[in-house]
Amino acid sequence: MSIETFIDTRSSRPAEAFERPRRHVIPAVEAPLQNGVSPPDDGGTSFLTLNVRLHDGSLFKCEAAEGFRVMELIRAYGLPIKAECGGACVCATCHVRVPEAWRALLPAPSDEELARLDEVPGADDSSRLACQIEMTDALDGLELVLDRDSLVPQTIWVAG
Ligand code: FES
Repeated sequence: MSIETFIDTRSSRPAEAFERPRRHVIPAVEAPLQNGVSPPDDGGTSFLTLNVRLHDGSLFKCEAAEGFRVMELIRAYGLPIKAECGGACVCATCHVRVPEAWRALLPAPSDEELARLDEVPGADDSSRLACQIEMTDALDGLELVLDRDSLVPQTIWVAG
């Protein structure tokens, strides 16, 4: 009998399920006039897209909203990210790699984040902590690779 470790993403939706990137616009609710003055038109709420790739090359397109942390979005989507400290920047188990084209759009990492990344074997200039990245309109379509060590392993017994 042997032990094999794999990542179970069956509950997640592969990107191939979508024919094109999804971008939803929720129309603003018609608000009644107050003292004869219309409320400002905020243009509705639109969702952003976050593209998460796993080490095996599979790509997942997650809906994202401005102001949410990337780690929370990945978790809400159903991908098994460890993120053991819940976003407190103490565990580094939400390690992601950001392609060069996107790095300049991200805010610089804090000293605290850099200190955590120094503890991650194999971390390099592409490394960031997903819990320290906040989605903004400028990051719509952000691509990143979820590090294999940041995935919750699921163990099954295989006869053999
Ligand atoms: S969740 Fe622990 S450092 Fe990001």
